[in-house]
Amino acid sequence: MAAQKTILRSLAGETLSTPPIWMMRQAGRYLPEYRATRAQAGDFLSLCYNSELATEVTLQPIRRYGFDASILFADILLVPQALGADLWFVTGEGPRLSTITDQAGVDALKGPDDIHAHLAPIYDTVGRLAKELPEETTLIGFAGAPWTVATYMIAGKGTPDQAPAHALKDENTKVFDALMDRITQATITYLNAQIEAGAEVVKIFDSWAGSLQGDDFDRYSLAPMRTIVEGVKTKNPNTPIIAFPRGAGERYKGAHKAIGAECIAVDDAVSAEWVAENVQPDGCVQGNLKSSHMVTGGDALVSETRRIVDALSNGPHIFNLGHGITPDADPAHVQQMIDAVRQG
Ligand code: CP3
Repeated sequence: MAAQKTILRSLAGETLSTPPIWMMRQAGRYLPEYRATRAQAGDFLSLCYNSELATEVTLQPIRRYGFDASILFADILLVPQALGADLWFVTGEGPRLSTITDQAGVDALKGPDDIHAHLAPIYDTVGRLAKELPEETTLIGFAGAPWTVATYMIAGKGTPDQAPAHALKDENTKVFDALMDRITQATITYLNAQIEAGAEVVKIFDSWAGSLQGDDFDRYSLAPMRTIVEGVKTKNPNTPIIAFPRGAGERYKGAHKAIGAECIAVDDAVSAEWVAENVQPDGCVQGNLKSSHMVTGGDALVSETRRIVDALSNGPHIFNLGHGITPDADPAHVQQMIDAVRQG
C-alpha cells in the first residue's frame, strides 16, 4: 500500500501525470484554525511541545485541502534547544537563542544521544500522526541543516547576512567546525528517531545555504548534508530524503549527487525551465512557486502554477512553493493553486 503513495512514487523517480503537492509551512498563521489552536497552546514553542495540539495543527491543512504530504509541526531550532541552548520567540520578531562563541560553549552542549528526552514530545507527535493521517498522505519529518542551525546558534537570532556565523567560520574555524560537527551528529540521531516513530520521508532545510560562497558552499552546506544523509541511510536505507539548499542558484545542478538525496527542493530564484534541464535529470525536484502568489492569487497564480507543472512534467516532480507560505496569504488562493495543479 505504502509504495502507492504519490509522494513516495515521485521520490522513487516516477514521472506522474499530476504531480503530488504539499506546501512549506502549510500548518501556519494564514489559517484561522491554526491561530485558534496556537492561542489554546499559549505560544509557538508550547504548541511544538504539546503533542496533541501539534498533531491537530499538522492535520488541519490536510483536512482543509487534502495535500499529498503532511510535514511534522515542529521547528528547526528545537535541536539547539535540546543540545542545551536557551530558546524563546519574540512576538513579531522571531527566534532568540543563547549564543555560542567559543570552544567552552561547544563543549557544554549535550551529546547526540542525550537530546532524545527533550525531544520525546516531537517523537510522540510523529507517532500520533502516523496513526491519524489518511492512508494516502505521506508523513514528512525534518531538521535544519548544520549551517543554517549554526547561524542561529552563533548569532542568537535570525540575521539578514549570517555575518556572525561567517565571522566565527573565518576567524575561529576550529570552534566553528566543532559546532558544525555537534549539530550534524545530533541531527542524524534526531532524524533517525523521527523515522523510527513513523516519519516516511525526511527533509533537511538549509535555508541560508545561499550565503556560502565558493568552497564554503561545498564544505558547509553540501558536505554536512551528505554526512546526515549517510547517517540516516545507514540505519534507514529505504527512507527517501529531500534536501533544500535554499539560494543555491546554479549550484542546484549536481546537488542530488553531492548530497545523496532523492529529491532537491528549489527556491523561486531559479526558473522551472532551468531546473528541468539542469537538476531534474538527476532525480526528483520540489518547488518552486513564489509564495507571494498565495497573497495575490488570481490569473497570475494560475498561469505560474501551470507553467511550473508543465516545465517539470517530463520527470519526477513534487509541487510546492519556493519557500514557506506567509501569514498574510489567503486560504482561498491555496485552493486555487491546488485546483490549477490537479485539474489543469
Ligand atoms: O513547514 C512546516 O509547516 C513545518 C513546520 C516548520 C516550522 N518551521 C514551523 C514554524 C518548519 C519545517 C520550520 C522550519 C524553519 N524554522 C526554518 C527553515 C525553513 C525556512 O522557513 O527557511 C527556519 C529558518 C526556522 C526558524 C524559525 N521558526 C523562524 C526564523 C521563525 C520566525 C519567522 C516566522 O515565520 O514567524 C520561526 C517560527 C515558526 N516556525 C512558525 C511556524 C509555523 C511561526 C510561529 C508562529 O505561529 O508564530
